[in-house]
Amino acid sequence: MIRTKILGTGSYLPEKVMTNDDWAKLVDTTDEWITSRTGIKERHFAAPGQATSDLVVEAAQKAFVDAGVDKDEIDIIIVGTVGADNAYPSTGNWVQKKLGMKTIPSFDISAACSSFLYGLILGDSLIKSGVAKTILVSSAEIMSRIINREDRNTCVLFGDGAGAAVLRASGGEEGILSTYWGADGNLGDLLIQPAGGSAMPASRETVDNKMHTVHMKGNEVFKHAVLRMQEAAVNAVKRANLTSKDIDLFIPHQANFRIIEATIKRAKIPLEKTYISIDKTANMSGATIPVALDWARREGRIKPGDNVLTSAFGAGFTWAGLVIKF
Ligand code: UT7
Repeated sequence: MIRTKILGTGSYLPEKVMTNDDWAKLVDTTDEWITSRTGIKERHFAAPGQATSDLVVEAAQKAFVDAGVDKDEIDIIIVGTVGADNAYPSTGNWVQKKLGMKTIPSFDISAACSSFLYGLILGDSLIKSGVAKTILVSSAEIMSRIINREDRNTCVLFGDGAGAAVLRASGGEEGILSTYWGADGNLGDLLIQPAGGSAMPASRETVDNKMHTVHMKGNEVFKHAVLRMQEAAVNAVKRANLTSKDIDLFIPHQANFRIIEATIKRAKIPLEKTYISIDKTANMSGATIPVALDWARREGRIKPGDNVLTSAFGAGFTWAGLVIKF
């Protein structure tokens, strides 16, 4: 039986750190409010001139070293992002160029905070169906370019970063054991960047009205996030024929520590077995989980044979969960 193994991971956060106190100098907020309501302490912001593909390149190079593969062994590049370098070509195409890779298929997927897990599920099916042997799956976001810096309800919540994983077909026990995913377009308006696409093309008015930034009904999103994150987690565990007791580490999407707390309570996973990185990164949309996964591996939180559960929820709405044996 073919399994999809995660051969290696890499991550990258831009150098500039933006603390809660830094935000408090710009909008009517406090470190106390942000910390107690979200768990966030700081986030990283990309430098002017850095594009999303530049972040992917950094993370991918580390993933290649970790996996022990040469870039020419990669058959497909998948990048999950809501902030592509350009409307087109895809960020994946720029990554291929910047890394000097072969003319392999390279493309982006759009599933917001769930995009890395959507990428893993897609990569898993491409490997199991024999289309590819080795795939680079990455997710990267420069949220600092699409936040409304005058809206305290949203601007403090996000950060920039990138994570990547090299997937390879394997005959062993390790690899992706189960997947679960879903979406509900009926709720798309609750978390949306309204302008810049065909529905609302860019104009002087859209720019003046800050329609190219994150618009979110935080309370509403919060409730759906808890329900769907636990649904994805519980069903991924079930599909792997495991119980929550068999999970060695849970890596949830990190949008709000209170969402994570509510999710693990419902999914019956202790906090000690839950990886928390939101304090250092804030919500990097799809990049959050691959960065946390890379950090967890490098910190020794994931040992050979461990069952790692991950689940995400994001704009769309989209959600996904996987169990991966390392
Ligand atoms: O990645 C997946 C998608 N995103 C999410 O999952 C995020 C989901 N939502 C959330 O995490 C939370 O709803 C927020 C963190 C966005 C907001 O937390 P909340 O506890 O739901 O606060 P709230 O929206 O109910 O606002 C409570 C108060 C309001 O003041 P009033 O109207 O009660 O006077 C806000 O204006 O807190 C105020 N507030 C702030 N105060 C200081 C909102 N943002 C801030 C801020 N600093 N940054």
